Amino acid sequence: MFEQVREAFNRQSEIFDSYEERNDILKWMRSITREHILRHLNTGDRILELNAGTGLDAVFLAEKKFHVHAIDISEGMLKKLDNKILRMNLQDDISFEKLSFTELNKLKINSSLKFDYIFSNFGGLNCVDDLTKVTKHFREVLKPGGRISLVIMPPVSPWEIILALKGKFKPAFRRLHKNGALANVEGIKFQTYYHSYRKLKKSLGGDFKLLELQGLAAVSPPPYLDSFAKSHEKFYEFLKSADKILSHVFPFNRCSDHFIATFKLNNIDGK
Ligand SMILES: C[S@@+](CC[C@H](N)C(=O)[O-])C[C@H]1O[C@@H](n2cnc3c(N)ncnc32)[C@H](O)[C@@H]1O
Repeated sequence: MFEQVREAFNRQSEIFDSYEERNDILKWMRSITREHILRHLNTGDRILELNAGTGLDAVFLAEKKFHVHAIDISEGMLKKLDNKILRMNLQDDISFEKLSFTELNKLKINSSLKFDYIFSNFGGLNCVDDLTKVTKHFREVLKPGGRISLVIMPPVSPWEIILALKGKFKPAFRRLHKNGALANVEGIKFQTYYHSYRKLKKSLGGDFKLLELQGLAAVSPPPYLDSFAKSHEKFYEFLKSADKILSHVFPFNRCSDHFIATFKLNNIDGK
């Protein structure tokens, strides 16, 4: 089902970390995401990381003394993570397996050891057409009172509306297509799907309560405009400050390049 996606990210795994290292916007967005999740993590939490990629966040979280079980469908990405675990001696802090986030019922972990937290960063979930294929498993793997933080690309992003004003209609409205948009990662094309906050909330059902909703790059530019940010340094700094102020305010908390949504699963008593 995710064959093209897997192959594309296998290829991308070779350059994934170095690309981010050069992209100031991506690094800033990741730092904001990390600040967000640290507000909701408790000491010693066991985290299930979906679509973990090369493990940039898994390593960060392990260094903060959390235990991370990372999954991804790309063996290329997981190989990079494995190299980091060995190099940094993180065997006790990070475990991983090759698995699709649509198959969380097949996780190779002790089923009595549920997770405190589920985390998915940077649009991995935009590879699935229907979020319920993933979220339907959350209650099986999450402890009562557990939290989830999902970073997802929504259908409406202000910077892409600006493209429309400049007459670039195709890229501007690509997110709004009902059947998603074709992505091209390292020469391999596959379908991607943009999910609104409303769709996400519906996919979770009534047992999850919203804790925080934050837009990521709502008024500041998205990662593919990194050269714009580098050539307009002061303006970019200004836009980042505006983002900080507006990222929790409607509609910027959901209409942005990505949004970060954190929910809590009800406790057994329903609270
Ligand atoms: C843009 S990368 C993000 C990686 C990582 N979360 C990060 O922030 O660096 C998207 C990742 O999603 C993974 N992915 C896509 N579809 C998946 C699926 N069905 N199950 C698990 N991982 C998937 C890809 O292999 C890729 O590693």
